[in-house]
This record gives sequence, structure tokens and C-alpha cells, in this order.
Amino acid sequence: METKVYQAHELHEKHIIAHIKSTIQKGGLIVFPTETVYGIGGNALSSQSAKHIFEAKGRPQDNPLIVHIKEKKVLDQYVKHKSVYAELLMDAFWPGPLTLIFDKNEKIPYEVTGGLETVAVRMPKHEVAQTLLNMLDVPLCAPSANISGKPSSTRFSHVLQDFNGKVDIMIDGGSSDIGLESTVLDLTQPIPTILRPGAITKKMIESVLKMPIIDGAIHLTTEKPKSPGMKYKHYAPKGRVHLLDGSIKDVICYINQAITEKKGHKIGVIGVKEVVASILGVYKVSLGEQDNLNEVGHNLFDALRQMDDLDIEDIYIHTFNQDDLGEAIMNRLSKASNYRVIKL
Ligand code: TXA
Ligand code: MG
Repeated sequence: METKVYQAHELHEKHIIAHIKSTIQKGGLIVFPTETVYGIGGNALSSQSAKHIFEAKGRPQDNPLIVHIKEKKVLDQYVKHKSVYAELLMDAFWPGPLTLIFDKNEKIPYEVTGGLETVAVRMPKHEVAQTLLNMLDVPLCAPSANISGKPSSTRFSHVLQDFNGKVDIMIDGGSSDIGLESTVLDLTQPIPTILRPGAITKKMIESVLKMPIIDGAIHLTTEKPKSPGMKYKHYAPKGRVHLLDGSIKDVICYINQAITEKKGHKIGVIGVKEVVASILGVYKVSLGEQDNLNEVGHNLFDALRQMDDLDIEDIYIHTFNQDDLGEAIMNRLSKASNYRVIKL
């Protein structure tokens, strides 16, 4: 398949709009930027489109997709029993990086929800995503645009690597602003439950709802995961990720010692500036300043992908404090390391 690449600023051109519309109508796929990560989208009302997405990603079909809508009022067309909390949260955080889970109605095919009676919905904030949704009469179901199991795509080069030749259209919107996937909040439970932490934090949600909510994302090893996505190893680079928990000084010592002991191994280091500056002789990627978690989030998946590109065998990363965006960052790092945390 030939993939057509369009630039974000070209989307007003008539022939491009026509191409996008006809592609979605016939069940084709479009890779597009959002404020969190790139998505790979198709018609959310078509089981065929959903099947194409699962095929392109190599994703297990019981892992449901997020439905992206253009405006709040569209929601009622696809969900039942909208929770009392929904309006408050939508007013506070939509458009933006918050995905809400509702009971679905018959318009949403089971192929989109992985067989579940519930559906995940979000209204993205990114200008390109909004322009795209506004061109179409249907919502887009779109998971993160990465081959299943790989880190999500936060740069256009990432989606080119994963999907060139496998989708009809790709829109180049530069690098993703946030760089971490949306917060997923289940509103079908008696108490709203976070299934995946993201840029909209527990604290932010609690301050809008004026009540404590449940953080379900930490119970990742329970037998029956609440979110089907939880049981899959995610965000994983090919190399073994060593997640180090300790002071900056101890982290630097540990890595330098490991480098000496593992002569002949391909070693990579990911960390804040201070850490990477003190490591010599191996491949390193800086995530930015220690106290700028937005920058760390923005750079994280790209750093993991760089390690893959170089076939690094052992990847050393350190933990972050779990305040604010730190919780989402640590959630992704824990998954990348398959929950191996080395306490220093
Ligand atoms: O930021 C994002 O959310 C990006 C952009 C493209 O919008 N999308 C994204 O999609 O991260 P995906 O498919 O990679 O992750 C969706 C997560 C999965 O963990 C999935 O299991 C969960 O949401 N999910 C979707 N529908 C669900 C449902 N009905 N019940 C529980 N979890 C659901
Ligand atoms: Mg994903």
C-alpha cells in the first residue's frame, strides 16, 4: 500500500479533504497527531475499520480502542447512562487528555470495544485532530499509533517507522506536546476509577468532583485487569530496562559500575541532565531538567525508541517522584521495565 503523507498546514486543501473523507468512508486508516501521542484512526462506527486497525498494529483484538469525538454534545449519540460526574469532567477537561469510559449503545460496534459493553471516549485538543474530526461525519476510533508492545509514537519519525506502507494517510504534525497517553477514567464504576494515569491527574479530577476517587492503575497484577490494556506489556523497548530507585549520586555510581562489569554489552542510559552528564562511554539520552516533568514526559518515548533503533541490550533509567505528571511517567517506566525496580 502506498501511504500518502500530508503536512498539518495543508489540511484546508480541497483535494486533501476529499481524500481524507473517502479514505475514512471506505474503512481506511489515517495516522494523525494529538496532544498526547499520535493516533491511528478509522471510522468508529465501522467494525471493518476497527479490524483494520488491529491488523495494522498487530494488537490483540480484546484490547479496546478510544473513540475520538469532535464536540461534547456528540457523546449522547453513542453512550447510555451518562454518569453524573461526566458533565463536570467534560466541562473541566475537554478538549484535552482525559478519556472517559461509559456504557456504550448499539451504534458502537463490539469490534471497537474489544467485546465490552463499555466504550472509551475522548475529545482531543490538538488542532490537527480537531480539524480532522470536523471534516468527518463520524467519530474516529484511534489507539496510539505504534506497533503493539512498542513505545507510543510522539514524533512523526516514529509513525513513519511503524506504519509507512500500512495505512492510507499520515499527517505530519511535528512532535506531540505532552508525549504520554491520556488519563483513562472509568465512569461506569460507583466511584470513578483511574485505569491509566496521564496528564490529568487524580488530584485534578478530585478537585473538580470534590470527592476522592479510586486509583485503579496501581493494581496492575490482579488476575482480572479492569482495563484490558493493563494485562499487556506496554511501552517496552527491545532491550532490558533497569529502573533504578535512589539518589542521583547512587544512580550514577550504579550505572558506572554496571558499565565496567558489562564490557561488551550494548548499554544505554536515559535520565535527567545531571545523570547523563556524569556517565561516559555509552549511548545516552537526556530527558531534560530534573524538576521539569513536562519536558521529561515529552521526551520519554522518543528516548526509549532511540534505544531500540540502536539495538541497545541494557537500558538504565532512574525513577522520578510521583507528584503530578510524575505518576504517569512512573507508570510508563514501570511497564517498560516489566516491574523490575532496583532499590539502591
Ligand atoms: O492519548 C491517548 O489516549 C491516545 C491518543 C491517540 O488519543 N490513545 C491511546 O489509545 O492511548 P490506546 O488504545 O493505545 O490506549 C487505550 C487504553 C487501553 O489501555 C485500553 O485498554 C483502555 O484505554 N480502554 C479502552 N476502552 C476501554 C474500556 N471500554 N474499558 C476499559 N479500558 C478501556
Ligand atoms: Mg497504546
